[in-house]
Amino acid sequence: MAPLTSIRTSNGKLEIVNQLLLPHTTEFLEINTVEEAHDAIKSMKIRGAPAIASLASLSLSYHLTKALTASPSPDFLASPEALAAHVEQILAFLYTARPTAVNLGAATRRLQNNLSASLTAQSSARAIADTLIAEGKLIADEDVGRNKEMSKSGGDWLLKHVGSENTGSGLNVMTVCNTGSLATSGYGTALGLITYLHETGKLEKAYYTQTTPYHQGSRLTALELQTLKIPSVMLCDTMVGSLFQHHNIHAVAVGADRIARNGDTANKIGTYNAAVLAARHGIPFIVVAPISTVDLDVADGSGIPIEQRPAIEACLVRGALHTGAESSDEQAVVMITPRGLEGIYNPSFDVTPAELITAIVTEKGVAVRKDGEKTFDLSAIVPMS
Ligand code: MRU
Repeated sequence: MAPLTSIRTSNGKLEIVNQLLLPHTTEFLEINTVEEAHDAIKSMKIRGAPAIASLASLSLSYHLTKALTASPSPDFLASPEALAAHVEQILAFLYTARPTAVNLGAATRRLQNNLSASLTAQSSARAIADTLIAEGKLIADEDVGRNKEMSKSGGDWLLKHVGSENTGSGLNVMTVCNTGSLATSGYGTALGLITYLHETGKLEKAYYTQTTPYHQGSRLTALELQTLKIPSVMLCDTMVGSLFQHHNIHAVAVGADRIARNGDTANKIGTYNAAVLAARHGIPFIVVAPISTVDLDVADGSGIPIEQRPAIEACLVRGALHTGAESSDEQAVVMITPRGLEGIYNPSFDVTPAELITAIVTEKGVAVRKDGEKTFDLSAIVPMS
């Protein structure tokens, strides 16, 4: 079966899979406006740091494509200045959809830089729009290639790090959340590394946490691994310590929403717990993410904004009404807490300190901490924008 996809662009339409309904219902939603893109990101119909950056960029491309063919032509195409003001407003709006994943900010900043360069070159409004359309599509398209690069270099590095004498019938790698095709434009980051090991016959099993309260693991990673026919085992978030005590886990590989200059990494809630337990058990802990996830403006993890999701989301479980359910009518959202419960803690991400991270893998290669140092120096591998 073909790998799953989070964004579809065919027949002139921009569509996303509504991830709130997966794994039981595959429903494509057409995204017609930047407001709809913003809402889809905020409500987590699409999620995963690279995927939300791709959708935001594509929504601007589609908006401008429609404007160029509209009759009469919209006012904002009357001059380069009018177009710049309009685009800047859209970029600022898209940037507010979710705060932690820096890829969204990197994409909007890149589009802003593209706009500024066109203004400096004194291009016409239509030429500026054309350039922005191409840049928006490029941001989404280039994600797949770099995911394959980092998956391969991370996988090869891990095999060497573990050593062939310890590999046995292949590596057992645990992951958290969902970092595969659904979280990116394709192939995935940490799940890409796991896929690469499987494709090259070097994976014994993938292990993944359910990742409550949104269940990115049990709903999305489960579906991706099943689709790719990768041998895997799901565990509840509370079982990581037990897994490490009783099974031979060779590595933990996770994605990232924002990596500070020193290597401190924000990722899905529960990642920090897994890192502490991995350190206790001497298990290598690897972060796999595109270079655009590194935020050199943030010195360490204390400067990363952590999104707090609505309290109600921690009180609900979403799922199918019966095992054969396929349509969205056969889905339900069930409340599992007492009515009127107060005092709910629901951060969407946590920060894993650099000293618990063995390696950070990007499309530029594998970064490790220097001997005796507790932090990474990522400034050397990140191009200045
Ligand atoms: O809240 P989510 O589902 O958007 O969080 C996703 C994660 O934390 C992923 O691990 C991260 O975005 C990397 S996806 C390749």
